[in-house]
Amino acid sequence: MKKTIFLLSSITVLATLINCTSPTTKKGEKDKDSTAVSNRLTPIEKGSGIASRTKEVLGMNLLTAISQRGAGGAVDFCSTRALHLTDSMGKVLGAGIRRVAEKNRNPVNQADSTELDYIRQVQNAISKGESFKPALSETATGYRAYYPILTDKLCLQCHGDLKTEIKPATYTRIRELYPADKAIGFRLNELRGIWVVDMKK
Ligand code: HEC
Repeated sequence: MKKTIFLLSSITVLATLINCTSPTTKKGEKDKDSTAVSNRLTPIEKGSGIASRTKEVLGMNLLTAISQRGAGGAVDFCSTRALHLTDSMGKVLGAGIRRVAEKNRNPVNQADSTELDYIRQVQNAISKGESFKPALSETATGYRAYYPILTDKLCLQCHGDLKTEIKPATYTRIRELYPADKAIGFRLNELRGIWVVDMKK
């Protein structure tokens, strides 16, 4: 029951967000494109919209979970909801969307060799203080785009320094759920992982 309510509230948040961010629609006029990112955009732009909307939904739900249950309790939210919310956003926005990382927490989010190549490029650019861009490749049926995910302050309570930023109780819960966790030791504005967005042509 609790899960159903949570799911419903996630969908409401999702619908609200999409309504809030959909481009200028006159009152009373039905916006046919309210659930899809416009076709007039380039694949890189379209994928960027999909990644940032998904990020907003995950971020809002994460903030709610932390304010209600603290970081330790919010680990359970990430564990049970992050993948589902990401998948649902992909369905709503008509794309495939995943988050992958070199130092991953959930084993299913391990970056493959192509994704690792892009991760290395962004890491190099960041270390040299250079700018970095999303990447695009063509697949059999469409396009695949990659976008960086950088850390902000909020992330460090679960991905930061073990001694100074992650509380012992939070880390205990993380290790219970993810015995092979590699996703700690990140600093502010560091590359935490990437979005991989698959779009049809
Ligand atoms: C409350 C703890 C918590 C906070 C805060 C948190 N995360 Fe996570 N993060 C997790 C957990 C738990 C997972 C594993 C989710 C899963 O099983 O799908 C995860 C997974 C991820 C992944 C997917 C790759 C992987 O390692 O499995 C990325 C990328 C990520 N987090 C980025 C961030 C960023 C960026 C922030 C800050 C905006 C953030 N996280 C804040 C707990 C947290």
